[in-house]
Amino acid sequence: MTIRIQPSILSADFANFERDFESISAADGIHVDVMDGHFVPNMTFGIPMVKRMQEITKLPLDVHLMIENPDFWAKKYAELGVFSVTVHLEACADPKQIAKDIQDAGARAGLAIKPKTELSEIVPYLDSFDQILIMSVEPGFGGQSFIESSVAKVTEAKALLGDKDIWLQIDGGVDESNIAELARAGVDTFVAGSAVFKASDRNAQIHLLRELAEHGSHEH
Ligand code: DX5
Ligand code: ZN
Repeated sequence: MTIRIQPSILSADFANFERDFESISAADGIHVDVMDGHFVPNMTFGIPMVKRMQEITKLPLDVHLMIENPDFWAKKYAELGVFSVTVHLEACADPKQIAKDIQDAGARAGLAIKPKTELSEIVPYLDSFDQILIMSVEPGFGGQSFIESSVAKVTEAKALLGDKDIWLQIDGGVDESNIAELARAGVDTFVAGSAVFKASDRNAQIHLLRELAEHGSHEH
């Protein structure tokens, strides 16, 4: 199982993205949290900012859309040339069409669910998406505590995915204390915001998180 560590730039300095992107060069990708103040009670940035981010880094951008009307917006983010675009099931009118629009634009399509959304709700859409994102905090803010019941949800998700070539991603409260257990439960793609950005040597922290996850996944 390939382990991927994607720092969330929600914990970065919003006036120094170029410098902060360089400080996480060991990452497998950069997780970009787009919030609209409607789907979640917080706002970050939109298309023009993500377009500039795409220009200043070679790292793949993993765009997490916490916005209303992803049916309209997801395609526009994918067309920027980003690596992946993830939408929330709770906000989608037609998840299958959104996945197709994202993939037609050349990006991987991700489907996210909030902590209170049942896993069974994603079943009809599994074959349309390239990655599934389990939120382990209520979306909206970085630095929240990991919701422990997410480990059981991951185990259940892994069983649902079986041998399908679909990445299993987790986002929220991931750090050195829980990453091995999550890898053991089947997560391969880890978003970590505060756990990376608070470290004095962020690349060393990314290496540590990857190593802990790799150990955990071997026990899977
Ligand atoms: C929360 C965001 C996360 C968040 C993760 O709504 O989707 O990506 O930034 O931050 P930490 O790792 O600090 O919980
Ligand atoms: Zn996120």
